[in-house]
Parts: sequence; structure tokens; C-alpha cells
Amino acid sequence: MTVTVLTDGKSVSVECESGERLLDVCARAGVLLCADCGGVGVCGKCRVRCTGGLSPADEEEISHLKSEIDIGIRLACKAKVVSDACVFVLQQKAEDIEIPNGVTVPNGVLCVDLGTSNICLAYSENGVTKGRSLVNPQCIYGSDVISRICASKDHLSALNSSVDILLSDFKADKRIISGNTVMQYIYCGIDPLPLGRSPYTNDEKFGKWYGDDYMLPCIGAFVGGDVVSGLYYALENGMIDGETSLYLDVGTNGETVLIHNGQMTACAAAAGPCFEGAGIECGMKASDGAIYSCSVSNGEIKCSSLGQGKAKGICGTGLVSIAACLLDIGQITDTGLLKDQVYSLCPDGSVYITRHDVRALQSAKAAIRAGIEILCKKASITPDMIQTVYLAGAFGEKLNTLHAVRTGLIPNVKTVKLGNSSLYGACMLSSDSSHFPKIKALADKIRYIELSDEEQFDEIYLSSMAF
Ligand code: FES
Repeated sequence: MTVTVLTDGKSVSVECESGERLLDVCARAGVLLCADCGGVGVCGKCRVRCTGGLSPADEEEISHLKSEIDIGIRLACKAKVVSDACVFVLQQKAEDIEIPNGVTVPNGVLCVDLGTSNICLAYSENGVTKGRSLVNPQCIYGSDVISRICASKDHLSALNSSVDILLSDFKADKRIISGNTVMQYIYCGIDPLPLGRSPYTNDEKFGKWYGDDYMLPCIGAFVGGDVVSGLYYALENGMIDGETSLYLDVGTNGETVLIHNGQMTACAAAAGPCFEGAGIECGMKASDGAIYSCSVSNGEIKCSSLGQGKAKGICGTGLVSIAACLLDIGQITDTGLLKDQVYSLCPDGSVYITRHDVRALQSAKAAIRAGIEILCKKASITPDMIQTVYLAGAFGEKLNTLHAVRTGLIPNVKTVKLGNSSLYGACMLSSDSSHFPKIKALADKIRYIELSDEEQFDEIYLSSMAF
């Protein structure tokens, strides 16, 4: 039987067996749907519009979709193909990204920032260094590294080859791969299951070539090559220089490195998916229509969203900004209680924040702050002695830092945005081989703290919940 997938004005037809999930059929057609829950029918994010022969919706699907089901909406992870069908999907496009002046890649090398949600690339085209951002095709197995670890139990080779197929469109003799430890394990076809269970150690440290791929060195199970690469870029370019400072990459894990008196200590705090826009009722990735920031005007919240159209949802930085503004206008108390069950963010009420969303943000920021406090304790300093916070990655780039301070996500000190420093670090390696031993030496120097081993973590985490 045939399923036709329509997206962005294009149509792809794929042959499939009776009983295949639409989620998998769409993936085979090259259309990757958002599947925050890993395709178990919980998040409701894999909605598609369909016609044709599909299995009837079960109770769980009906409870998600309610009247939407009457207009042909289905959850792609629940609906199974029984005869020819047609699926309409709103697709996220690949995007060009800017590469800063001075960051270059030689011909024949592909630099890869292998993120859990997005894969960012830098490469040379006619002597000009170009950048591109693509959705990680593994996202159909869930939005965070824990879902990927779970999925790898049965689907390691599918996870591994999905990225390989994507990258094969970019011809290169060598690749420099910078990702979190789980992504690097899966990329190399190594079983990541040991990373997800106590004592959370990574036997493979990388910092070496795997065939034609150089894998950045990893510090711990949840502090990977992307952190080492980004930190190396900032240090080598003199951005971080002698001061007491914090390198922070916020995502589903808050990866943090404290630099003090020439010593470096790192940890990863499990923040959950809310900074990626997942697990939030109107949450979405930082793409067109996402509220990414807001301000207060005459006691009302004014939202800014990405792209041209109307707001469609809230991404991670938007969540931080909205909470800060609601604190300012007294709609959220210092303990985190949203006065009404729901606060609407647009005139038609289609985008809103709930009490549960605010609680998710509180838990996430408390985890990151607890990590920062523990690193400071290890260095016998207090967070107010940190002079600068260096924010890495796309979240840090869009984050309103005043709002981040207002919610308590980061200390009230100077901030510097580094952009996609993980990718830029990989680019440095691509153009000068003298960086390879130096970056390995940097990784060896960083001491890793496993927060789950820290007795004080729970106490500090709880005391960091309030705004
Ligand atoms: S409901 Fe989460 S992926 Fe379908």
C-alpha cells in the first residue's frame, strides 16, 4: 500500500506494510515529526492531518484530540496504516546559519555540532565557509538524551544511520564531530545504555579519530565534546581570560563549567525538557511562531515571536521571559504560584501558560542553580564571586539575560553570549591540527562532578525552587 506525505508543497510517496505507524512512514519519507514523548502517545505533539485508510483512534488518542479528530487530525505515533492514505505535515525547514568572521573551514571537511534537537554544520563552498542547521532525525525517538538512550536498546543502528544518511548529503573527506556524550556514543555505534544508569560513567572518552571522523573529547556521561569544544573556542580566542567565570550551556541538561584560579570543574544538571519547549502545554521548539521573549507595558505582557506570523507557542527562552514578566506584574508569587490556572498570552487565547508550566520551569532552573552552587562549594567560593557567565548555544543566544537573572536561572553578574561555540571550536580543529593535542589536554584538566553523588544536592535544589 502507498502513503503520500505532503509537506511544504512537496509530495513524497512511500510503500509500506499494513500496521506501520504514520510516525515511521513519515520518517521514511524524510519528514521528521516532533515526537517529544518518543512516540508513546503522551505528548500530543505529533499531530498530522490525514485522509485514507488508518486504524481507528483508541481512547488515549481521542482524549488528546477531542473534536480535532472530526477534521482528520491524528497522532502519527498512534495511527497505523491499513490501506492507501495521505498525510499533510507542516514541516520545519533546514535553515542557513551565520558563521562569524574569522571562523573558517577548509575544503573537504565537515564540522558538525551534533545536538540532541538540531544538527548544525559548517563547511566550505567555493572557498566560503557556510553554515546550516537541520533537525536531528533521531527526534522521532524523543526530545532528550534519556529517550535516545532508551530507544537505542532496540534501535541503535536506526538512530546511528539516520544521522549518517543526513550527513552523507554533505560530501567530505573528514568530519569533526562535536556533540554531547550520548550523541557521540550513538554516532559511533556504541551502546549508550551505561551512560543512563548509575554510576553514569563514560568508558569511552573520545578525543581521537574514528576512521575519518574526529570525535571531540568528552568529560563525563553528560558533559560531552560540545562543552569541551565550546570552552576551547572561548579560551583560545581570549574571551575567557583569568577571571572567575562560568561556562553554561542550557538545554535538557544544564552543562556547567566553573573556572576559578586556573582550575576547571564541570557538572550537568538534569533540567528536563522545558528549555527545549517540550513538556510545556503550548511549548514548541525555537522556530517560526515561537514566543522567545516578552516585556511588560502598562501592566500587560507583550510577546515577541520568531518569524512573521502570529504566535503559535512558547520556546524555552520565552518561558523564562514570560515567568519573569509575570513575576514583575505580580501574577506569579515568589513561591511560583501562578494566580490563575492559566494566563493567556494572545488575544484569541490560543497560546497560554499554565501553573504546571511554571512549576516545570522552577524545577529546571533549580536543578541548574543547584549545580552552580555545588561547583562553587567545591571551589570554596560563593556564586556572587563569579565575575562573568558565558552563555553557549542557541538558548543562550536568544535568552533575555535580565529575565534569566529575575527568575534566578543565573547569578546577577555580567553575561557574555558565545553563540554556537561548540561548532566554532570544531571549525578551529578543522583548520589547524595543532589544536588536537591541546583540546585533549583541556578535557583532561577539567574535573567532573557527578551531581547524583552529591549528598547536598537535594537540599540545595529544593532551596533554589523559589523565584
Ligand atoms: S504523542 Fe508524543 S509522539 Fe505522538
